[in-house]
Amino acid sequence: MIAAPANDIEFRSVTKRYGSVTAVSDINLAVPKGAFVALLGPSGCGKTTCLRMIGGFEQPSEGTVLIDGREMNGVPPYRRPVNMVFQHYALFPHFDVEQNVAYGLKQARPKLAASEISARARQALEMVRLGGYEKRRIHEMSGGQQQRVALARAIVNKPSVLLLDEPLAALDKKLRTAMQIELQTLQRELGITFVLVTHDQEEALSMSDMVCVMNAGRIVQMAKPQDVYDKPADLFVADFVGKTNRIAATVEAGGATLRLPNGTALATGSTIGLRPGAATVALRPEAIELVRQTNGSGSQLIGTVTHRIFLGSTAEYQINVDGLGDFLVTADRRSVQESDLVEPGERVVLTFDPGKVHVFPA
Ligand SMILES: Nc1ncnc2c1ncn2[C@@H]1O[C@H](COP(=O)(O)OP(=O)(O)OP(=O)(O)O)[C@@H](O)[C@H]1O
Ligand SMILES: [Mg+2]
Repeated sequence: MIAAPANDIEFRSVTKRYGSVTAVSDINLAVPKGAFVALLGPSGCGKTTCLRMIGGFEQPSEGTVLIDGREMNGVPPYRRPVNMVFQHYALFPHFDVEQNVAYGLKQARPKLAASEISARARQALEMVRLGGYEKRRIHEMSGGQQQRVALARAIVNKPSVLLLDEPLAALDKKLRTAMQIELQTLQRELGITFVLVTHDQEEALSMSDMVCVMNAGRIVQMAKPQDVYDKPADLFVADFVGKTNRIAATVEAGGATLRLPNGTALATGSTIGLRPGAATVALRPEAIELVRQTNGSGSQLIGTVTHRIFLGSTAEYQINVDGLGDFLVTADRRSVQESDLVEPGERVVLTFDPGKVHVFPA
């Protein structure tokens, strides 16, 4: 017996060039069977190009893409066990909802019976919560409903891999959240591998079990959502995923102390020796706690509240820290007493756990 490969999708040193543009540069990637992977990165970093190479719509300039352990070089899209929901999904406007979904099944050879095609199309529509909409015309559906028709069309012939290119980008926040939950449920029900492309970091973190952060054609970090957030591999990831305060600093000889430009010394909280020299410090806004200034001193950051912005369940503060400039601080309003919320103009002390400070060589 041959053991089934553990990876559904694999990139081996894949590079894709369009003329002089290198869209994807020497990528190695392994997506386990049944995983939900998000490709996250800024516009133009190569996300769609990666997806198109999995789908067979583009061929790598160098390297190999494997699906289910098989090399895909030269294998056309319709011979791959993959379906793709495109960034600009194209439904057939002259077909009704069911005909759109059934389209792929009608192309199947050997031919399927009409009754089976209809039953499977309806089942796919049920899965995206569109049962009862079979006979609607596409232009009579809302954007979010059309998006779900595109999804139903992609899952109807049970691909082993589903490629989703910004599938929820057009939806409002509420519908997007609802669809995110539906997509996750769908993925678990179907047990198939999902590769989701998004430039929305919240979407990537909340939906996937593995996030692949890309920048300029390369993968900069591939890790669990929580690790991408808590242990960013570099300054780009720290900046791109979530908000972060950046401070220029110097790692002093020995590597245990950070000297900030205003003279403040911080313990690095790291037992791993940092290389002495110029560095950049990254600190999440929610890792900082604000307390009203007391007379206690020491190695503290002190500043003046300049702005307070309410964001519903959280409040964001802009603090002008003495000698360091503007800091962003987030306070969870559920855990902070109303009387503890500081006001613009107040002097405050910024406290934080040194273990939450990330140090990157400059
Ligand atoms: N057919 C093409 N010909 C030439 N250059 C291309 C082509 N397709 C993509 N590119 C370039 O390759 C790079 C990566 O493009 P890609 O579409 O993969 O980006 P993306 O990460 O999906 O961006 P977005 O978030 O804007 O959709 C970009 O610089 C883009 O201009
Ligand atoms: Mg794209």
